[in-house]
Amino acid sequence: MQDQTKHNHAERAADMDPARALDPTLYADLIGRVSAWGRSYLAGLPDRPVRTPTSPGQTLARLPAHPPEHGLGTAGWDDLIRDLGEIIEPGLVHWQHPGFFAFFSCNASAPAIAAELASATLNTNGMLWATSPSATELEMRMMDWCAELFGLPDAFRFDARLGGGGVIQATASEATLAALIAARHRAVRAGVPRDRITVYTSTQAHSSVVKAAMVAGLADDPDDGSRVRLIGTDDRLRMDPGELEDRIGQDLADGLCPALVVATLGTTSTGAMDPLADIAPVLDGCERRPWLHVDAAWAGAAFVCPEHRAVAAGLDHADSVCINPHKWLLTNFDCDLFWVRDAKALTDSMAITPAYLRDANSDAGTVVDYRDWHVPLGRRLRALKLWWVIRHYGADGLRQHIRRHIAMAERIETALRADPRLELPLPRSLALVCFRVRGDDRLTDALVARVNASGRVLITPTRVPIGADGSSAAIARVSVGTTTTDDRAVDALLSEIRTAADSVVQSSP
Ligand SMILES: Cc1ncc(COP(=O)(O)O)c(C=O)c1O
Repeated sequence: MQDQTKHNHAERAADMDPARALDPTLYADLIGRVSAWGRSYLAGLPDRPVRTPTSPGQTLARLPAHPPEHGLGTAGWDDLIRDLGEIIEPGLVHWQHPGFFAFFSCNASAPAIAAELASATLNTNGMLWATSPSATELEMRMMDWCAELFGLPDAFRFDARLGGGGVIQATASEATLAALIAARHRAVRAGVPRDRITVYTSTQAHSSVVKAAMVAGLADDPDDGSRVRLIGTDDRLRMDPGELEDRIGQDLADGLCPALVVATLGTTSTGAMDPLADIAPVLDGCERRPWLHVDAAWAGAAFVCPEHRAVAAGLDHADSVCINPHKWLLTNFDCDLFWVRDAKALTDSMAITPAYLRDANSDAGTVVDYRDWHVPLGRRLRALKLWWVIRHYGADGLRQHIRRHIAMAERIETALRADPRLELPLPRSLALVCFRVRGDDRLTDALVARVNASGRVLITPTRVPIGADGSSAAIARVSVGTTTTDDRAVDALLSEIRTAADSVVQSSP
C-alpha cells in the first residue's frame, strides 16, 4: 500500500513536472481529452441557446480569487473540462451555433482548428525569415494563392515581382492602422508636415478607422474631426465621391495634406459597397495622391465567386486591401489578409533593426521579414490554417460555402419582403439582410430584443441614416455566415421574427 502511494506520487510528479511539459504522452492524453470535449460541444451546439442571459460578475463569482499553490496535474483534467462546461460555457455567446446571425460571423472549420493545434504545437516564432524560413515562405505563398482566389490585381502579389505582397494580420483593425502608418510615413518623407495630415472615410466605415487615427495620434477622441473627415453617403449608404472631392479640395486649399482614404466594400451595418471606380479618379486628381486603403474585411470573402467581383472594380487603384477569412472563409479567428501594392512603403514605416535582429539575408534584402509589416515583432504560424483550409476544400469548396450562405440570405430576404408588417429599406448585400418593422423605431428595437430573448437565434440591431432628411432609423441585421447555419436554423429565424412581429405590432398603440 505504502509502495503504491509512493508510486502514485512519483507518477503525479512526473506529469506535473514543467520540464516535461511537452512530454509526447502527456500531450496526446490532454489533446485527446480536449478533442473528446470538442466533439461533444459541437454535437450539442444546436440544442443549446445561442446566448444565455448572464449578469455582470456571474462568472467572476465562480472563479477562485487566488491561483492554486499546487497544481492538479493530469488527475485534475476532468475538473478542468467540467469547469469549462459549468462555469465558462454558460457565459459564452456561441458564435458557431447554427442560429448565430449576429454581427458578422466568426468562421471555423475542422481543418482550420486542426491547423491551429498544429501551429500551437510547433509554437514557432516567424518574426524574421531567419527565425523560421518556411513559415515566412508559406505565408507568402498563401497570400499569393488568396490574391488569385479573390481575383485581386497582380500588383498585390509577390510572384508578380512588381513590389507588392501580402501579410497576415490578426485583424482588419490592425490592417487599417498599418495602412495609416504607411500612408503617413510616405507623406512625411515627401516633406509634408506631420500635423497637416488628414484622413477620409465614410460615415458608414467601421469604427476601426477612427480608432486607427486615435492610436496614430491623429484624433484625440472619436468625435475629434480636426484631421479625420467622415464623408456622407448616398441613399444606399455608399461613400459619396462628390463630397469626398469637395472635402479634399477644401483641405488642400487650407494647406492640409490628404494622406489616406479608407473605402469599404461591405460596411458593417448594411454591407454597402463604396464606389471605388468613382473614388479613384478623385484621388488621381490630387497632386500628391492619397493612399487608398480598401476595407473588404467581410465582403471580400465573396470574391472567391467571380459573380460577386463586380463591386471590386477599381481595386486596381488601391494601395492596400484587407479581407478577413476569419469572418467568412472557414478559417478560425484570427486571420486578416492585408495586401499592399508598394511593400517598401509599408516596411519603411515599421522597420527598425537592433543588433539582436540582424541577419545576413535580411541585410542583403533577399528575404521578407514579416516583423516589418505590422506592429508586433513575434508572430505565430497563422498561414498553416489557410493552407490546410484551401487544400481541404479547394477553390470550388470555398465558392460553395459562400454561395450556400447567400442562397439562405436570399430565402430570408424573400420571406421578410412578403410580410406586410416589415420593410427592407436597403437591398440585401451578399448574405446580409437588413429590415425594420414599419413605423416607430421602438418596434424594431422591441422585435430584435424578443427574437434574441428566444435563445434560438441571435441578430443585431443598428441605426443607419436612411430617413429622407438623412435622419437615422433603427434596423435589424441578419447576417448569414456561420459555418453550421442550415435551413433549419433559417426556419427558426423566420419563425422567431414572425412571432416577435405578431407581438410587437399587436401591442403597439
Ligand atoms: C467592414 C469591417 N471592417 C473592420 C472590422 C473590424 O474587424 P476586426 O475585428 O478584424 O478588426 C469589421 C468588423 O466587423 C468590419 O465589419
